Formats: sequence, C-alpha cells, structure tokens
Amino acid sequence: MKKGVFITLEGPDGSGKTTQAARLARWLEERGRKVLITREPGGTKLAEILRKLALDPDLPVSKPTESLLHLAARADHVDKVIRPALEEGCVVICDRFGDSTLIYQGILGGMDLDQLRRLNLFATQGLQPDLTLLIDGDPRVLAMRRDARGVTDKFEQEGLAFQEKIRKGYLYLAEQEKERILLIHGEAPEAEVTEEIIKKVEKFV
Ligand code: TYD
Repeated sequence: MKKGVFITLEGPDGSGKTTQAARLARWLEERGRKVLITREPGGTKLAEILRKLALDPDLPVSKPTESLLHLAARADHVDKVIRPALEEGCVVICDRFGDSTLIYQGILGGMDLDQLRRLNLFATQGLQPDLTLLIDGDPRVLAMRRDARGVTDKFEQEGLAFQEKIRKGYLYLAEQEKERILLIHGEAPEAEVTEEIIKKVEKFV
C-alpha cells in the first residue's frame, strides 16, 4: 500500500527540472521527510541501459520501438524503485515520467495519445503521480540555459521550433488535467522558481 507522495517534474529540455528537483528535495529533507530523487529514462540498472539505447542519435529506431524502450524502462523503475520507496513513506521526486512519453513519442512522435496513456498505466501497473510540476517558459529563454550546459542527446539537437512544440504539448496536457499538472513559471530566477514550487507542494506533503 502506498504511503508516500509521488511528485514528477516535467518540462522542455533545459527547463531546470534537475536543479529544482534537488532544491525541493533539500527543502523536504530539512522538514524531516524521507526523499528519493530519481529520473527517467533511468533509475535502475536496466532502465539506464534502455536510456542509452533510446537516446542514442546513432541508433535510429521507429517510434513504436522508441515508445516501448521508454515504457520498459518505466516499468522496471516503478517496480524496483518508485513503488517500494512510496510504500516506505518516501516523497519520490522523479525528473520526467509518463507525461514525457505523451509529449515526445505521442504529440511529437505521432503515436496515439490514448494508446500511450493505456501503455503508461500498464507499465506502471496503475501508479500515477500525485502531483506533476510542469516547468514552463519561453523556449528561447530556456535555450540559453541549455546552450550553457552543452548539447547532448538527439532531441536537444532539433532546435527551437521543436522546443516550441514541446511547450505547446505540455500546456495541452496541463489543460486536460488541471488537478494533477501544476504550471510553474520557469523563466524566473532559480530561487523564485523553487519558492513557487514549494508553495504548490506544501499542501500535498
Ligand atoms: P535528459 O538528458 O534527461 O534531459 P532533460 O530532462 O534535461 O531534457 O533527456 C531525457 C530525454 O528523453 C528528453 O529529451 C526527453 C526524452 N524522453 C522521451 O522521449 N520519452 C520519455 O518517456 C522520457 C521519460 C524521456
């Protein structure tokens, strides 16, 4: 039985999810909560191997194959890491989760959204985030951060128009699930973004 709280962070590449996950974790730990930070694709030995395969620009695969690699990684991650941590009462903060599949393989990749939603539920055996923080912002502003960090995987090489589509896609998902997906203004300075996140998370933890 689940006792913890499951929070996911979503947003375009370079939106500061990883930094904010760490800052939120620190805030929660200072208040005595047990926290697990993890990320997708990844989080287990198998999922890290699948991550390498799914994100390798030299290994082009079809969209169904790509979707299934991410879903297989998610299934292993939930089974071995996320669900056990929630059962122990941890706050689990996951950098990307099922919504990333809906965006990257669904809205951008052309895979059917309802099918992907069902596959997400199959992969997680019904587990869904209690709360999803969507870090939103103008892709040009976010791109400056990304460029400072270096370009690494195949999505990040596709440029601004692609990032605009990602943003629109996320806003569309947020519109459909207003209770779960909360918008965070990601262009603000790091500390202000954290403050907004904490305000929104406070009532859930
Ligand atoms: P990552 O290097 O973790 O970058 P960031 O989260 O900072 O963008 O890259 C993960 C990439 O994997 C990202 O481009 C989105 C992609 N992805 C999918 O295509 N589908 C998925 O289901 C997940 C979880 C990620």
